Amino acid sequence: MTVESVKPEAPLAPGLREPPRAGGGVPFLGHGWKLVRDPLSFMSRLRDHGDVVRLKLGPKTVYAVTTPALTGALALSNDFIIAGPLWESLEGLLGKEGVATANGPRHRRQRRTIQPAFRLDAIPAYGPIMEEEAHALTERWKPGETVDCTSESFRVAVRIAARCLLRGDYMDERAERLCVALATVFRGMYRRMVVPLGPLYKLPLPANREFNRALADLHLLVDEIVAERRASGQKPDDLLTALLEATDENGDPIGEQEIHDQVVAILTPGSETVASTIMWLLHMLAEHPEHADRVRDEVEAVTGGRPVAFADVRGLRHTNNVVVESMRLSPAVWILTRRAVRDTELGGYRIPAGADIVYSPYAIQRDPKSYGRHLEFDPDRWLPDRVKDIPKHAMSPFSTGNRKCPSDHFSMAQLTLITAALATKYRFEQVAGSNDGTRVGITLRPHDLRVRPVAR
Ligand code: HEM
Repeated sequence: MTVESVKPEAPLAPGLREPPRAGGGVPFLGHGWKLVRDPLSFMSRLRDHGDVVRLKLGPKTVYAVTTPALTGALALSNDFIIAGPLWESLEGLLGKEGVATANGPRHRRQRRTIQPAFRLDAIPAYGPIMEEEAHALTERWKPGETVDCTSESFRVAVRIAARCLLRGDYMDERAERLCVALATVFRGMYRRMVVPLGPLYKLPLPANREFNRALADLHLLVDEIVAERRASGQKPDDLLTALLEATDENGDPIGEQEIHDQVVAILTPGSETVASTIMWLLHMLAEHPEHADRVRDEVEAVTGGRPVAFADVRGLRHTNNVVVESMRLSPAVWILTRRAVRDTELGGYRIPAGADIVYSPYAIQRDPKSYGRHLEFDPDRWLPDRVKDIPKHAMSPFSTGNRKCPSDHFSMAQLTLITAALATKYRFEQVAGSNDGTRVGITLRPHDLRVRPVAR
């Protein structure tokens, strides 16, 4: 799949239907209160109302797409762009000029700039750093001591993204600042997305002040990273150099704001998503010791007992399936939005120009219409003879089409390696006081997972 491969425009067929309206809205907030109160169940039940349904979010009508085939059609069609409540709140806060929020020619140019750093053949160069960080994690943790999975997962995710892609000499203090800033910013952005009551968020309330402080620190941190690289005079072959040397459509150097926004647009999704996935993997290792043992057995069969290395990842088929299955049931990115740029259709329903569309990879990936024993953790469903029964687009944690995550190979390599390193060295148990309930924000993660490593 290349970033350009989207369907050509088709003329709009006559006789299109209006999508049904989902029940359960309340005056003023519409369905927004359900999205705040119990968003996962709400999104998971929408398919009962239709393949495409209308929702009210505050004063806005939003269209929800509920089937795998139509989410694929949405992601692959050029009638829809990145926009809508999620992206508006992202743009306003994280910057308008980064790859995650740009559209059209600017987006294509930016993808061309960043893509080489994420290509499959670029990943082995990151192997030594991923290996070092995965083993450092197991060394930091001591048998019997409680691990705070939130901060530890963020820490390793930030360190890997920053060390591999920005070649940053990331001190723990900076990683911690980034984690605190990102956690607060993402929490606030989610509220702003589902209850878009703009002026409320400008009031000098403690939560708004905390949010603004975190956001300012995030931007300051990025300025520090860029300034340090420039002051060093070095140009290593990495993503930051590619960003600093990029030129625009006219061949002119890109502006300071765009460089800044690009670093933000890469660091922010790169840390929150991977960190959330690591938290769910730790949860899985603690809750499914039989699968943790199978991972350990596979790693030992492949390595013969030496520490697992990046080069082993390709041979760790079951471990990879464990990671995929964990991402199916607990996808970091659980909600996505698009906006129609012209009057168009989805599944025979009329979608007017300007309409916001929303869909949930969480709902799609847990749908009993797509998966037998849909709530069961079953990594073997990804074995070649069973995977063919899974409908197309029913498992798309990195999305598809021109907005597909550039980091799918990069992420899968590190997640597989980390899972292998952790399961080989330890068994895990949740400790008293751990809260593994699902915390819904821009990403999904456990509220406050705490585990105790037990030496194998
Ligand atoms: C986009 C998921 C890790 C950078 C996306 C999208 C998804 C996603 C679903 C598409 C959003 C859409 O369709 O609207 C994930 C998951 C990850 C992960 C599940 C890990 C488990 C990363 C990492 C980085 C990264 C590690 C960078 C270091 C990006 C960027 C985009 C993106 C820059 C925007 C791409 C564009 O709009 O062209 N990611 N991601 N992601 N991701 Fe990831």
